[in-house]
Amino acid sequence: MVNHQSKQLIDIILIKTGLNIKEIDIAKVEKAVDLRIKALKLSSSGYENLLSSSSIEAQAEWKKLIPYLTTGESFFFRDKGQISILEKKILPDLIEKKRIQKELRIWSAGCSTGEEPYTLAIILDELIPHWGDWKVHILATDMTQTSINKAKEGLYSDWSFRDVDTDIKNRYFEKKRNGNWQTIDRIRNRVTFKLGNLILDNFPTLTSNIHSMDLIICRNVFIYHKRESVFDVVQKFSKTLVDSGYLLVGHSELYGHHFDRLKTVSHKEGIFYQKLAHNEKNNSKAPNKIDWLDTRQPKAKLPIFKANNLDKRTPKKTRAEITKFKKEEFKKTVIEKTKLDKKTDQNFEEVFLKAQSCANKGDYAQALLNFKKAEELNPFSVKLFYFWGHLEMDQEKLEDAKGHLKKAIYLDASFIPAYFDLANIYEIDNDEAKASKMKQTTLKLLKNMEQDATIELLKNAKASELIQYLES
Ligand SMILES: C[S@@+](CC[C@H](N)C(=O)[O-])C[C@H]1O[C@@H](n2cnc3c(N)ncnc32)[C@H](O)[C@@H]1O
Repeated sequence: MVNHQSKQLIDIILIKTGLNIKEIDIAKVEKAVDLRIKALKLSSSGYENLLSSSSIEAQAEWKKLIPYLTTGESFFFRDKGQISILEKKILPDLIEKKRIQKELRIWSAGCSTGEEPYTLAIILDELIPHWGDWKVHILATDMTQTSINKAKEGLYSDWSFRDVDTDIKNRYFEKKRNGNWQTIDRIRNRVTFKLGNLILDNFPTLTSNIHSMDLIICRNVFIYHKRESVFDVVQKFSKTLVDSGYLLVGHSELYGHHFDRLKTVSHKEGIFYQKLAHNEKNNSKAPNKIDWLDTRQPKAKLPIFKANNLDKRTPKKTRAEITKFKKEEFKKTVIEKTKLDKKTDQNFEEVFLKAQSCANKGDYAQALLNFKKAEELNPFSVKLFYFWGHLEMDQEKLEDAKGHLKKAIYLDASFIPAYFDLANIYEIDNDEAKASKMKQTTLKLLKNMEQDATIELLKNAKASELIQYLES
């Protein structure tokens, strides 16, 4: 139940940001507001008055509050279908159209920490052979100051590259000493980052250079907004585009909306919009949810990590794992049975490594034989079952994978990577209930960890990054 005070606050947030605070997030927002109220030594109503005003103090306060309200989840080359539309249709069309003028204007609206505009800059770098001859403006805006700061810095952990080819990663990013990767200067200098609020700001505007855009990309922003605010923002986008300019939003973010000057274009990889000239009639239909589902890529998957990305070490102490068993009786038996002598332990490690190496080379039959052999030598290795399940996921043997991943969880109820993969499989199965259960358990485990702690088997993602991913 939302109390009166919270309701007022939620209304103010909606008016100023377009964000639709869900019931489940209210406690988190209240906690953040309490902290701010204490820091400013204000009453609740004093704080609400501050947020409602347009003073410089109010703007400064919004900068502090907004990071608590938004989800900045993003990663490079997000959504293979939409990336393909950009690479094969929209950007080549624009380049062809502008081959004489040689000027392009692109806006990533709601760019979060910069993965999306940098992806655009990289794709364009691949598509335009003589950059020097072109003027390409890539503007990227977001209302979260901390995200804009991070975007300008261009430093990312492996987790942001979960959908990126190694070759692209190596060519466009520089590895830093702390294991992070930084966007190379050439790409970083091609994007201009600015603070901007899609709801409050007026555009098109010459003063902020937000006008005459050939492409606006605004993905995964409106899902957090109330439907009513979305229409007004898209009308402003429509005025900001040049005739025939493109608009790309996240899947189903605009379903049911009709815009006079934006025609919907259905493509096998998804839907995008194109601005009509004044005298053109819009005969396109507003897409409904079903249209989106029809054109959508297969359900967005949690990333599947290839065996060769995974940690190749095996646990040294099998007994340490054994002690994690929940059932006392079973534990006793296990301990009895697994007084593995050093030789067996060594043999297990060798066979397990061999299995992984075969899997990495794509020799699945040999990998399977070695996994089976490794199981005989040590039937209680969590990582064995995890890697085995993984191999089966790669081969799309989902039922077998489920069995092995469940075994890993049975051996270690706090083994996050296995929950992660199981959630993935249930999503592929369209079993929303089980997928959600797996995600909830993963979230619970992650929230109990130090937020900076990393999970090696999930591309060294930080607990906080995984939480953001699962909650987005
Ligand atoms: C989930 S991220 C999406 C990032 C990126 N577009 C992508 O798809 O990977 C959503 C971003 O929208 C931003 N956002 C939400 N409402 C906004 C508004 N009214 N004005 C500007 N940015 C907004 C948030 O700050 C957040 O960084």
